[in-house]
Amino acid sequence: MTSSGIVADIKSRLPIVELVGETVALKRAGSAYKGLCPFHAEKTPSFIVTPDRESWHCFGCGKGGDAFTFLMERDGVDFREALTRLAEKAGVELSAQSAREDRRRRRLREALEAAIAWYREVLLRTPQGERARAYLRERGFTDETLDRFSIGYAPNLWDPLSKRLGARGFSDEELVSAGLAGPSNRGGIIDKFRGRIIIPIRDQSGKAVGLGGRILPGLEGPKYLNSPSTPLFDKSRTLFAIDLAKSSIRKEKLSVIVEGYTDVMAAHQAGFTNVVASLGTALTRGQVELATRYADAVALAYDVDLAGEAATQRGLLEELGPDAAVSKVRVIRIPAGKDPDELIRTDPDAWRRAIADAKPVIEYFIDRAATEADLSTIAGRRDVTGRSLAILKRVGDRVERALYLQHLARLVNVEERTLGEALERAPVIRRSPRPGRMPGNGSGAPSPSLGTLESEALELMLRYPTLATELPVDEMLPFAGAVARQLASALRERAATMSQGDGQADQGAALEAFVGGLDPATGAVARELLEAAALDSGEPALDPVEAREVLRTCLLRLRVERLDEALRDGRLLLEEAQRERDHGRLEEIEQRIDRLGREKADATRAMHTPATSLA
Ligand code: UTP
Ligand code: MN
Repeated sequence: MTSSGIVADIKSRLPIVELVGETVALKRAGSAYKGLCPFHAEKTPSFIVTPDRESWHCFGCGKGGDAFTFLMERDGVDFREALTRLAEKAGVELSAQSAREDRRRRRLREALEAAIAWYREVLLRTPQGERARAYLRERGFTDETLDRFSIGYAPNLWDPLSKRLGARGFSDEELVSAGLAGPSNRGGIIDKFRGRIIIPIRDQSGKAVGLGGRILPGLEGPKYLNSPSTPLFDKSRTLFAIDLAKSSIRKEKLSVIVEGYTDVMAAHQAGFTNVVASLGTALTRGQVELATRYADAVALAYDVDLAGEAATQRGLLEELGPDAAVSKVRVIRIPAGKDPDELIRTDPDAWRRAIADAKPVIEYFIDRAATEADLSTIAGRRDVTGRSLAILKRVGDRVERALYLQHLARLVNVEERTLGEALERAPVIRRSPRPGRMPGNGSGAPSPSLGTLESEALELMLRYPTLATELPVDEMLPFAGAVARQLASALRERAATMSQGDGQADQGAALEAFVGGLDPATGAVARELLEAAALDSGEPALDPVEAREVLRTCLLRLRVERLDEALRDGRLLLEEAQRERDHGRLEEIEQRIDRLGREKADATRAMHTPATSLA
């Protein structure tokens, strides 16, 4: 979503290890680097740089952040100055670039929205649309559902859309970049979607980002065709129908992720409105992050056999990583041979039950291994143990790991302690690089400069300005990067100086002035958040009490994220100290880990206890 682009661009050109390496002698430590903290005096390194997260953090003094915060701390400059310096260093031109990028994205979005409107017309009002209308009716979709999802139809013709949008001033290049057309071998361009039901895909604020197209029965071609990656569309961070589902996800405290577009439409039509779909790909971490922006728990209703395959399991665990994401995911078991669409239509109660019975993904995998093996034999039990330990090795949280060990111990009837020891010895399998950084995943694809929780928190602070006045003034907000911190503190300052009686009419102008006064990177992020907020206003607004509660939970979750990172760094340092048998150091680290653990427990408890203020 929010991609001021500038910040991401600068970061990608100036790897954090190199930047920090200018001042700190760094040594490799696993997937991270460590060195002596430049911000406090120490003799043993506790300053850790994690390239995967593009972040640094000192376990000793608690300071941390990204490339920008590093420069701010090191050179004692403010964010604007750090931005100027790093942009220059990276060879990124500040204002020109963000303006160009904004314009480009706006054009592509306009083309996409125009296409959606036209496809909708074709479905509703043309003879070519008749077969599509009949097919959708036959599948049981009501007019209301088709309207809610803005379903359309692309006629089975060469280039009617391209011609139409061309006449409205869109260039061939723009139509291709928006994913609406492709080069034709007869020269010129050809419509990408032909003879297909069109399913618009939107981001969480309802802005169109891409299309899915289902072929009409009887026509040649793959069943579904989706938009390619474009500057607007990054599949790995998108969930179909998240815009329509998010408020219900919040209410239900659960998002259900299915595979198919039609599964989602059927679910919403039947009143299960917390359902979204991953887009024909394996579930990604980005998708889990998006879903957990609205509720902590995610339940997958995927094809059961798929989830049972070892390779798929490994892929999923690897994608989710060893930290918090994995413990949020549950698996829903759908009776064999049915997809959610069918189940919801034929037996909504069975669907309801299946959701209630969803199991945490790790437990699900262990139980799968157990049902596939013969537990009456030693070989079978050994097999289950081996597979389960390999899975448990990927669970970062100790308590959670202990709980699953208990479960496994009962299944295979081996003492928990023995299993625990075996787990310690089992090899750690490293995560492959983050998919967002993989080559081929599109230059030009949106590269978010904010995490989803951060966007959520900032959006709330923008929309409900008075909330910002409640934030503790001198405490650091738990945002990972400098832009988010910068925007938050600007908002906090603005709130403090705002007069009580500011009229509605002036508010828009005041906001404009506020955003205009920010540095280009922060301003671009603020603008995107405001744009999202404006589009959001269709959904029932939160009352101020709810808004405060959502913001409070967001901030607590962010705090837990920061604490998790600190704990991870702590464990890394602990392992080193153990290896070096440095007892004094060991004790020091253990104490700090304990303290962080307690802070995390407090924050987690606070998350589940309603409160009346943010502080
Ligand atoms: P399914 O084949 O289960 O389709 O693919 P479906 O959604 O149930 O569609 P209907 O009910 O047959 O109309 C699940 C999802 O996988 C992706 C699509 O996102 C689809 O919704 N997919 C499937 C593709 O991207 N390409 C394909 O060729 C097939
Ligand atoms: Mn189906």
